Amino acid sequence: MRFYVTTPIYYVNDVPSIGHAYTTFAADALARFHRLRGDDVFFLTGLDENSQKTVQAARSRGAQGRDAIQKYADEMAGTWKQAWRILGVTNDGFIRTTEQRHADVVKSFYGRVKAKGDVYKGVYEGLYCDGCEAFVNESDLIDGKCPLHKTEPKRLREENYFFKLTRYADAVLRHIEANPDFIKPETRRNEVAAFIKAGLKDVSVSRPNQGWGIPLPDDDSQCFWVWFDALLNYISGAPADAWPAQAQLMAKDIIKFHCVIWPAMLLSAEYALPKTIVAHGFLTVNGQKMSKSLGNAIDPIALSRKYSVDALRYFLFREISFGADGDFNEKSLVERHDAELANAFGNFAYRSLSFINAKTDSLVPEIADASLTPEDEEFRKKTSEICGVVGKEFEACELKAAVDASMRFADECNRFFNAREPWALFKGSGAQPVEARNVLALSASAAYALALCLSPITPTASQRVFDCFGASGAKAPRWGDLTPAGSGSRIAKPEIVVPKLALDEKKKK
Ligand code: MSP
Repeated sequence: MRFYVTTPIYYVNDVPSIGHAYTTFAADALARFHRLRGDDVFFLTGLDENSQKTVQAARSRGAQGRDAIQKYADEMAGTWKQAWRILGVTNDGFIRTTEQRHADVVKSFYGRVKAKGDVYKGVYEGLYCDGCEAFVNESDLIDGKCPLHKTEPKRLREENYFFKLTRYADAVLRHIEANPDFIKPETRRNEVAAFIKAGLKDVSVSRPNQGWGIPLPDDDSQCFWVWFDALLNYISGAPADAWPAQAQLMAKDIIKFHCVIWPAMLLSAEYALPKTIVAHGFLTVNGQKMSKSLGNAIDPIALSRKYSVDALRYFLFREISFGADGDFNEKSLVERHDAELANAFGNFAYRSLSFINAKTDSLVPEIADASLTPEDEEFRKKTSEICGVVGKEFEACELKAAVDASMRFADECNRFFNAREPWALFKGSGAQPVEARNVLALSASAAYALALCLSPITPTASQRVFDCFGASGAKAPRWGDLTPAGSGSRIAKPEIVVPKLALDEKKKK
């Protein structure tokens, strides 16, 4: 199966915050899960560079003229790419909207929309929010300010080309209603449907050319409106046969662009619609959305250096209901990491694999079916059931539910190991009792399967477990492998799977 997953393209003048990292980690987790399943994955992220924000930010640093602005964008793009590398993000593509390949797609797509009779010239008169890079209605404002950017929009009167969005309102609404998975979660789906029902207006395709952006092929006094241009990154940034995307991830701030304008553009140009648009909530600090413009952004790289990338990812997807807003909280990050990831997952994997190392000369025992106790059978059944649940949750882009199920599994593993007491089964016997060997074989499988379930979220810790089994290269872990790659073969002595953060903190002192 082909699995094409996208993040929004972030504004190049910003610096990566954990808000951006949240979406990018979510897409990364889905990409990793689908790779484990053997799907043909393409994971795209990138940068939105044709915005007036780029020009303003470059100018505020003294840049004058197109080349200097481009140079500023190039430097910032380096920062973003490096951030994703440090954070272990496994994107396959990276698109910048100042690339020629992007402009080519925008122009040809526009040609199709125009040929359809969906473009006309008009005058826009109203409000524009620079932060949103969009026209806003008086009724959207709170105390005269944009609720997201807390700034007053400016009043504009300008000539634009318009896209006949209204022509597609019914078709988009019908699609939303007929496809419950098109917009997730349901609250966002309802919000978008209500927005369309309240009545749409046509939107701009272009704005007056101010020397930055992609000029219209047939009228270079105008440039493409940055959202019309930016949405097309999902086509220009991927291999020609990748579209449609299976999952387009973002926060709720930009769903109207993605769930109304984008599908209408695609219908007009006769492209397929994406399968699912997933909108998560905002990461907040003391209840306020985290953003550079509000001055409360948190640097994900500093955090990942202080703790670890796994710790950050685990916290984000375990703590916050995927879809709801969530407050960022370092104390809870440390507590959850140590009590759950380190104690429940790390400790079980380390204990069980070390025990095999010590007691069976590092050989993962074969399971002797005839000697399995009802408790063993039950645990084996549960192991495969929970893995099934975790897989379904990842398929449905339900990241918190996938982590929650994995942690229930971790608890089962610990309960089983403690209840079956393999150390007691070995006691007093020079030989290796079959019952004890079964417990170890089941525990080894469970440790492997648990690492597999968590690996889209905590790839580094999971890899430590896979390494014990020599599971890499041709023997790379595959979703659904519940028996370790090396059942009946040797495992390496494990290192600590998840080092505790609280201990690390003490060591530092
Ligand atoms: N450039 C547009 C998107 C164009 S996509 C065709 C844009 N850029 S942005 O830099 O403002 O990024 C917004 C996105 O960044 C959000 O939708 C979300 O994915 C992510 N987030 C940035 N801050 C966030 C939070 N505080 N919380 C959650 N997500 C956040 O909009």
